[in-house]
Amino acid sequence: DWIMGNYIEEAVAKIREQVGDEEVILGLSGGVDSSVAAALIHRAIGDQLTCVFVDHGLLRLNEGDMVMDMFEGKLHAKVIRVDASDLFLGQLAGVTDPERKRKIIGGLFVDVFKAEAEKLKAAGNGVKGATFLAQGTIYPDVVESGGTKTKKATTIKSHHNVGGLPEQLGLKLLEPLRELFKDEVRELGVALGLPPEMVYRHPFPGPGLGVRILGEVKKEYADLLRRADAIFIEELRNTIDPDTGKSWYDLTSQAFTVFLPVKSVGVMGDGRTYDYVVALRAVQTSDFMTADWAELPYSMLKRTSGRIINEVRGINRVTYDVSSKPPATIEWE
Ligand code: XMP
Repeated sequence: DWIMGNYIEEAVAKIREQVGDEEVILGLSGGVDSSVAAALIHRAIGDQLTCVFVDHGLLRLNEGDMVMDMFEGKLHAKVIRVDASDLFLGQLAGVTDPERKRKIIGGLFVDVFKAEAEKLKAAGNGVKGATFLAQGTIYPDVVESGGTKTKKATTIKSHHNVGGLPEQLGLKLLEPLRELFKDEVRELGVALGLPPEMVYRHPFPGPGLGVRILGEVKKEYADLLRRADAIFIEELRNTIDPDTGKSWYDLTSQAFTVFLPVKSVGVMGDGRTYDYVVALRAVQTSDFMTADWAELPYSMLKRTSGRIINEVRGINRVTYDVSSKPPATIEWE
């Protein structure tokens, strides 16, 4: 609309003034905040922005390709995709403790990003090195780190958003979303031409499927989980609640599938199966500090379970998590 159009013009002018003819790098995760920041900065300075997208191998089905299609394909932004899945999975081998897994994933993420940033800082080939690091920091992040608001979840589970990266890299900070609330960031994203499905996506934790595979993370488990989760999300998007006219994806705050590394017995045709179990999790919440499990329609759960068991060979049992937060947390790890 008109107001958002004006806002974009002002934000673009501010970024151009701040950056001048220097170069900017940004860590793209596929999440809402970094995506909107990338789209806005790209609108302002085009090829002076380079996005670095680190694929840790723990993303959802086709997520990496979707990010590339959008930013490189449609927006024609410069994006460096780093496939670091072997590195991450290698370091995670044998590790079962949730907090250790988070630390390993967070630490490697910083290492890989820093290595790419150092390359871009040095640049060469007639290209000047980057002097700015852009981040999708939004207003609630600013308030939280200022200590005005305390977030319990941060102490219970260590989130991997690390501070101090710009100082370590010797880069100046560019944070064009610092004054915006989440809903404003979403509106801005849509106005910048990002698809609503991307901008209104449920939150996804930094450690990704690493904390949705209970215990040791293995590629085999991640591959099974990706396919099961894609079916669940598709059914949530396609099942419309007649009372509200909204999809169950939009009626839930967060929904996903959890991989349980236990096997149970099943029967298929004339044979017996002995395969893995997944749990479906869907919650409704306004602040993620407390949450209720969602009363999804039985017909939808039935269809989802039938599809997962029939389409994903290796999974023969689907359960639905009926625990609220507290005392359970939203994620299983
Ligand atoms: P819990 O499981 O603590 O989750 O009820 C609350 C919200 O935080 C997200 N979450 C994380 N996000 N890194 C993140 O970036 C993490 O390590 C992490 N752990 C939990 C979770 O998805 C939910 O939205």
